[in-house]
Amino acid sequence: MPSFSRRSFLHLSAAASAAAAFRVMTEPMLAAAASRRPHAADAVVIDANENPLGPIQAARDAMAAIIPQGGRYSDNLTDDLASLFAQSEGLDPDYIHVTAGSTPPLSLAVLAFTSPQKSYVTADPAFELGMSMAAKTGARVVGVPLTKTYAHDVKAMLAAAPDAGVFYICNPNNPTGTLTPHADIEYLVANKPKDSIVLVDEAYIHFSDAPSTLDLVKAGKDVVVLRTFSKVYGMAGLRCGLVIARPDLADKVLERGGYNFMPVTAVVAATASLKDPQLVPERRRINAGIRQRTFDWLDRNGYAYIPSQSNCFLLDTKRPGKDVREAMAKENVLIGRTWPLMPTHVRITVGTQEEMEKFQAAFQKVMKGSAA
Ligand SMILES: Cc1ncc(COP(=O)(O)O)c(C=O)c1O
Repeated sequence: MPSFSRRSFLHLSAAASAAAAFRVMTEPMLAAAASRRPHAADAVVIDANENPLGPIQAARDAMAAIIPQGGRYSDNLTDDLASLFAQSEGLDPDYIHVTAGSTPPLSLAVLAFTSPQKSYVTADPAFELGMSMAAKTGARVVGVPLTKTYAHDVKAMLAAAPDAGVFYICNPNNPTGTLTPHADIEYLVANKPKDSIVLVDEAYIHFSDAPSTLDLVKAGKDVVVLRTFSKVYGMAGLRCGLVIARPDLADKVLERGGYNFMPVTAVVAATASLKDPQLVPERRRINAGIRQRTFDWLDRNGYAYIPSQSNCFLLDTKRPGKDVREAMAKENVLIGRTWPLMPTHVRITVGTQEEMEKFQAAFQKVMKGSAA
């Protein structure tokens, strides 16, 4: 039986109660809240779509080098990061804002653009954070099932909410890891109600070949794109993200958050990561290889899953996913949560090859009924 420290137990239970108390659902809170037990140091943790590789060496070196200057705000470093991103994407630097991950701007965008008169429109299943924020503004939350190919059903989303304030598109989608064609997002943008925004969450875009929606921002559309350094860049605990939007939209999104400085460690790590042209293709290749080997194993063993273009996928356990999750935790493998619409599916994050082999052994044991 795995051992665990009292500290990690307190940490997880605090996150779970914070999730309940504030009714705001961030990824780590949701992962912790759904966990039935604290985890051991050697547990396989594939429940929160984190990147087991962590930051690249150049990012680690940049953080170590900036520590002596930690007594300064050094906000020029944040400007440098925004300029570097703007330059690499051919955008005006005024369109880029650096934030502590994408959780704050996602929340703020929903607060800014939804109200009892302006609904929040999302796919179902989808990343839940926006829904919990919409509940705070008193907005109607409209969940529209994905299409048969697990894309956002943009026509149904438009039809369901002529009063929309925010259309939330996560591409690739969390939890399915599936893509929505660029043409569909363009259609949504062209046909949405006036004064609404299309909020495109590109947290996982680097794991896929999907084109970005930044071209629609460049074209001056009512589109807000969110990026994060938490996923492919392996910086979830360091906190860095980007809001990319027309300045008038970005101002509306960010004004409720007040002004703050970014931690210099996160900023220099993000800058060093963007400067490495190999990082994204290399990590995309690694993730895709491990994902494919996992799918091959699931195929060989007759398990059903939704093919994904991301670092997570939904696995159909054909029984209550919560029970499987609990049984897997007893095997020291923490897998992701279920979604109400698909209660037999559990979300699996693609970990290292070694972690996925441990996941396979535990999953086989749980499904064959020979687990502890
Ligand atoms: C779709 C999506 N958006 C946003 C986030 C927030 O990530 P972060 O605040 O670490 O950038 C997550 C976290 O898992 C996510 O899955």
